[in-house]
Amino acid sequence: MSVAAERLQLPFPRPNVLDLAPLYEVLRREAPITPVTTPAGDPAWLVTRYDEVKALLGDKRLGRSHPEPERASRITTAAVQDGPTGSYETEEADHARMRRLLTPAFSAKRMRMLSQHVQDLVDGYLDQLIAERATPDDVVDLHSGLAFPLPVAVICRLLGVPESDREHFHALSERMASPSAGGEAHQAREEFSRYMVGLAEAKRDQLGEDVISDLVRAQSADEAFDYDEMIRLCVGLLFAGHETTVNRIGLGVLFLMTRPEQWAALTADPDGRVDATVEEIMRLGAPGDLGLLRYAHTDLDVAGTTIRTGDAVILSVNSANRDQAAYADAETFDPDRAERTHLGFGHGAHFCIGASLARTELRIVFATLARRLPGLRLAKGVDELPVRPTITGGVAELPVTW
Ligand code: HEM
Repeated sequence: MSVAAERLQLPFPRPNVLDLAPLYEVLRREAPITPVTTPAGDPAWLVTRYDEVKALLGDKRLGRSHPEPERASRITTAAVQDGPTGSYETEEADHARMRRLLTPAFSAKRMRMLSQHVQDLVDGYLDQLIAERATPDDVVDLHSGLAFPLPVAVICRLLGVPESDREHFHALSERMASPSAGGEAHQAREEFSRYMVGLAEAKRDQLGEDVISDLVRAQSADEAFDYDEMIRLCVGLLFAGHETTVNRIGLGVLFLMTRPEQWAALTADPDGRVDATVEEIMRLGAPGDLGLLRYAHTDLDVAGTTIRTGDAVILSVNSANRDQAAYADAETFDPDRAERTHLGFGHGAHFCIGASLARTELRIVFATLARRLPGLRLAKGVDELPVRPTITGGVAELPVTW
């Protein structure tokens, strides 16, 4: 296979969610910085090698904002994926403030508190699925019964949304993220804003260990802080932390169910093996073609290609994480591999602030599945599983039995 002279169109076609484009291997070898057209129809550079993806994620000459917003390319047509606009200085200042405001939410103490909650939630979902399965022939859906509801329930606890409002909160977040419904998403956002402001007001008298309480405290200390900023931060957490985690749980189940020897190794020693298994899920389970979007804030030369000021650059974490130059036998799912680092949570200034929470969720999910359902298996072939219509891909169903 060789790289076509014309611009490549994203996303690359692929038969199923586990079958990642073999084109990446060719691109890494022959055209590691290649011109592409995004799904939204805009031009961009696709960067595919580990070294360049990592270096550019740490390079301050690239930003999430565009130096001339009206020229900004879009990675998808969905507004939620588009970055902020404005000058690099404004972006840096806003970003530093965002990280500072969210720091208490991800402290070691909060993570310990959340970890017990995650375990209770996972056990509760599994109890329900086990009860649902009346006979050994019955099939249950691990997507709707665990992978999908868990991350949003955890975000509710992180934010301080009461359990009694969880369903309402979940429905609102679904409507906001809906890629097709423009007006509907807008209306849901208004409702979400009203709900969050009401919640913040109600919490004023009894602040707790949650993001909304942290932000109310910040508001009392800092007059410039307002509810719009609070809502932006909460929506940001929801979009950054929900679909990503749902898809890693789903892909992790597929990786393990299609590799019985790896599943057997995990069930034999769930606590000893789960950390390395989760890191390997994170390495190979990065979403397909839609890498991390940046814009050049100055002309720069990368591996012999000149990227001009304002150009959009897509940093393919998926391709970087399967680069043979960085990983021996890169396509093999191997928790015992020597190289344990990956770019699945990004790198540099924007490194995932929720990484420790995401790791906690994934470790608890896979260790608990291995302990409680060691006989777990897929009830359908991977090729038969419907793919989710969202921008981040993943499977829409995980039919299993045991
Ligand atoms: C940033 C991945 C879970 C909150 C990022 C980035 C990646 C990532 C790759 C970097 C984005 C960039 O450089 O443009 C993931 C994956 C997750 C996950 C794969 C699940 C397995 C979470 C969770 C939360 C969260 C659970 C919070 C509830 C954030 C936030 C950012 C971020 C706020 C922006 C950080 C910044 O710009 O400084 N995530 N994430 N993520 N993530 Fe996560």
